[in-house]
Amino acid sequence: MNTIFERDLEAKGFIDEPIDPTIDIVTEIQQLKKEKNAVILAHYYQESEIQDIADYIGDSLGLSQQAAKTDADIIVFAGVHFMAETAKILSPSKKVLLPDLKAGCSLSDSCPPHLFAKFKEQYPDHMVITYVNCTAELKALSDIVCTSSNAVQIVESLPKEQKIIFGPDRNLGEYVKKKTGRDLVLWNGACMVHEIFSQDKIVDLRAQFPHAKFIAHPECEDHILAQADYIGSTSGMLKFTIEDNAQQYIVATESGILHQMQKASPMKTFIPAPPNNICACNDCPHMKLNTLEKLYNCLYYELPEVDLPMDIVERAKKPIERMLEISEKLGL
Ligand code: 13P
Ligand code: SF4
Repeated sequence: MNTIFERDLEAKGFIDEPIDPTIDIVTEIQQLKKEKNAVILAHYYQESEIQDIADYIGDSLGLSQQAAKTDADIIVFAGVHFMAETAKILSPSKKVLLPDLKAGCSLSDSCPPHLFAKFKEQYPDHMVITYVNCTAELKALSDIVCTSSNAVQIVESLPKEQKIIFGPDRNLGEYVKKKTGRDLVLWNGACMVHEIFSQDKIVDLRAQFPHAKFIAHPECEDHILAQADYIGSTSGMLKFTIEDNAQQYIVATESGILHQMQKASPMKTFIPAPPNNICACNDCPHMKLNTLEKLYNCLYYELPEVDLPMDIVERAKKPIERMLEISEKLGL
């Protein structure tokens, strides 16, 4: 990096060029997308205005499936860094852009690859299943990747006697252990957003809304999941609220998903599960780094780009493809 422009990008993680205030940014993004044959993939935790402009909105599994099959030249990933890396691994010839390179993930950060490699050495006869919320380097150390919507099935796809290391999310790992009855060796990582829910406040809220169902993401802690009427990935939770006949839901996950829930079921009420006193809300500070302005600049300048060394792409691709094959076979 040598120009002032590039140095600025390196320091901030996004293009900070002023945008002409007279333009309609949404129309401009649509236009740029067409001109450049670009596709915008957005996670459910993105700001509503980003979700509304996306070509595809989904959970981690759906986003990986889209990234693998798109014929666009450019993928703009409105999500976090590990998601953009996964898209690059699945479509290495495509340009993958992330509106803000600093959109990381506390769960991914809780598992540094060099420490995980040492951990893995202690269990030479174990297979490694990693949750997709991790770096490309960690995926390269794995046998199979999974997401929250297929973790149980991925574990069950292996013979009963197969010993397994599961990482980096200990909460999802505990949930999978319970559902499958398998004894997994867990890495001790967690997501900062899903560990903030207050059990006492949820109990109080349920007393206030006795007809509301409580739904939770499996990244939540065990004592929170124990209270849930439904546990699932973001797309699983969304589907549940569409098909279920309750009228009110208390939702224990990042609050971005409420936008799609409300859109799909406008007559129902969705209440974010209350966090503890330390946190003001259930927003993921990483996911929420992306803005419509950063997305516009990213598409306009085709920067910042997420790139990976070819050997990591090759090694990380196998466990992700294995997950996609199993998911396809199971119709997930
Ligand atoms: P899913 O959307 O796959 O359930 O993942 C949730 C999450 O925490 C993504 O960062
Ligand atoms: Fe990572 Fe949690 Fe944010 Fe998802 S919600 S990106 S797991 S920190």
